[in-house]
Amino acid sequence: MDIREAVKERHSVRQYRDIPLGEEERRSLEELVAQCNAESGLNIQLVCDDPECFDTFLAHYGKFKNAKNYIAMTGKKSLEDLEERCGYYGQRIVLEAQKMGLNTCWVAGTYGKGKCKASLQKDEKIVCVIAIGYGENSGSKHKSKAVEKLCSVPEADMPTWFKNGVKAAMMAPTALNQQKFRIALDGEDAVITTGSGPMTKIDLGIVKYNFEAVSGHKCK
Ligand SMILES: Cc1cc2nc3c(=O)[nH]c(=O)nc-3n(C[C@H](O)[C@H](O)[C@H](O)COP(=O)(O)O)c2cc1C
Repeated sequence: MDIREAVKERHSVRQYRDIPLGEEERRSLEELVAQCNAESGLNIQLVCDDPECFDTFLAHYGKFKNAKNYIAMTGKKSLEDLEERCGYYGQRIVLEAQKMGLNTCWVAGTYGKGKCKASLQKDEKIVCVIAIGYGENSGSKHKSKAVEKLCSVPEADMPTWFKNGVKAAMMAPTALNQQKFRIALDGEDAVITTGSGPMTKIDLGIVKYNFEAVSGHKCK
């Protein structure tokens, strides 16, 4: 599966099969987490076989089932772009997981923050978690805002790489499917910004990663 397929096939999955992660998948994820931490300065952690984090009223209300593995997105409180950075590197892990045949769900609200087993230093905080495992289903395609609402460039004027990036951004997960991002073209550069609101900065990092991974162009 290439990155385009991974972007297209990824949907939030909240019900998982009651089986542990395979040894190989676990090792690959650990390696990827270590790489992401080295590049980002974050303290991302893979936590396996811990049913408690999703054993809360909110998680059941959110229809989570057998969510026992997760990636805890944590880092230094002092990092100015902590949320965006978590979004960016978390989405890199999500798409690699998709390629490995795993399913995921970004979770910032419906989990037990106090029950999360990630180990934190005093100067660190947890931004959100990503549930990960073998889905009982593959999720479903989310409804997207129209392209004109998300991007200021008329479709007919979009260079191919930009168009591919916009499509990938539209398929990105955002909290409550809010899609508050906007994509513009400034000369040769794609510029992605976000409106205000809860979790929009995490969304921004996620959307930027999707755009870059598929278009092959760094964005601002
Ligand atoms: C930052 C972020 C936080 C999220 N928090 C939750 C959550 O607390 N509970 C939940 O069930 N889904 C959560 N989601 C999943 C979104 O509802 C989902 O991504 C969105 O509806 C789009 O659907 P899709 O991921 O299937 O494309 C979150 C997604 C993001 C990006």
